[in-house]
Amino acid sequence: MRVKEQITNLKRYQAGKPIEEVKKELGLTEVIKLASNENPFGCSQLVKEAVLKVSEDLSIYPDSIAAELRHKISELLHIQDEEILIGNGSDEIIQLLCRGILQQGDNCVMATPTFPNYKHNCLIEGAEAREVPLKDGTHDLDKMIKQVDKHTKIIWICNPNNPSGTYVNEKALVSFLEKVPSTSLVVIDEAYVEYASATDFPDSLSLIKRFNNVLLLRTFSKAYGLAALRVGYAIGQPSLLNQIDILRAPFNCGRMGQAVAARAIDDQNFIRETFLKNVKGLNMFYQFCDAHGLHYYPSQTNFILMSMNRSGEQIFQELLHQGIIIRPGERLGFPNYVRITVGTLDQNEKVISCLSKLMK
Ligand SMILES: Cc1ncc(COP(=O)(O)O)c(C=O)c1O
Repeated sequence: MRVKEQITNLKRYQAGKPIEEVKKELGLTEVIKLASNENPFGCSQLVKEAVLKVSEDLSIYPDSIAAELRHKISELLHIQDEEILIGNGSDEIIQLLCRGILQQGDNCVMATPTFPNYKHNCLIEGAEAREVPLKDGTHDLDKMIKQVDKHTKIIWICNPNNPSGTYVNEKALVSFLEKVPSTSLVVIDEAYVEYASATDFPDSLSLIKRFNNVLLLRTFSKAYGLAALRVGYAIGQPSLLNQIDILRAPFNCGRMGQAVAARAIDDQNFIRETFLKNVKGLNMFYQFCDAHGLHYYPSQTNFILMSMNRSGEQIFQELLHQGIIIRPGERLGFPNYVRITVGTLDQNEKVISCLSKLMK
C-alpha cells in the first residue's frame, strides 16, 4: 500500500526527549525537562475532585460536543458557546482546518521558523507552504501580505511565536488584517496567550468580532498545565466551526480532559500565579544573557530563545548529561541558539548555573 506522494518526504514531529528515556539512557536519577514549554508548576489543585469523579465513569463515552467545557470557556471569555470548537489539543484543530480547507493548488502563508505543524498539515493536504523568514525574530507581515494571492486559503500567525517567543502587536496585526482578502482565513495561534505581558499585545477576541475571516487557537496545555489531557480549542465564526466540526472524530476530547479543563478554568489565581512566576523566571534568564553578552529574544511566552555563540546541539548534549533537557536551536531553525522553557525557581537556578559553567 502506498501513502499519498506528498507524505513520503515528510519528517516526523520531533517532540522533546522524555524524562524517563533520558534517565534510562544516561543512568540519571533526577532529570528536569525544560524542552516542551509545559507548566513547571503542574496544574490547579482544584481539578483533583474532577479527576476522581471521572475515574468512576471511565466506561462512559465523553460528551461529543463538550457542552459544559465550551460553556465554561464562553463564560470566561464573554463569547458564545457556538463560537468554540474543542480539539484533542490545538494540534488537532490545525489538522482539521487543513483537512477541511486545503487542496492541491491552494497555498498557506506562514512565518519561518514557526510552529512546524502548520506546514506539516498543509503539505499533507497537497497545498503549497509559503514561508516568510522572521524579521528580527518576529513575523514579517509586510512580506507575508505580498505572498497572499487568490489561492491563499490560510495565513498562520503564531502569536506569540514558537520558537522565538516574540509577538506581533495590535497595531501591526490590525493593519495586516485590513489588507487580507476575505477569501483567506487568518489563524492566530495563541497557545501562549496567558503568558503575554506586553500592553500592546492584540486583543484578539475583539478582532474576531471585527474580521469575519479570523480564527483563534488556544490550549489548556501550557499555562493551565494540562498537556497530558490534550485539550485545545478554536474560537471563530460558528458557520466555519460547524463545517469543520463534521471532520472531527465524534469523541475527540476525552471525558477526563473535558471535566478537568472545565474545573481548571475556575482557578484563575493559578493562572495569575503562573504568569507572575514566569515573569520572574524570564528575568533570571535575561540577566544571565545580559551578563554574558548573549543575544536573546524578549519573550511573551514561558520559554526563551537565547544565543550560545556556539553549537546549541553541543549545549543540549552537555546539559543532558547534567540531567536537564532543553531544545537545541539547530532543530528549530536557529543554529547556535537554545530554547529553554522557564522552570521553577530551583530549575532556573540549576540550568543557569550549568550554563554559566559551560560559558567558562
Ligand atoms: C504555538 C503552538 N501551537 C500549538 C501547540 C499545540 O498545543 P496542544 O498541546 O494544544 O496541541 C503548541 C505546542 O507546543 C505550540 O507551541
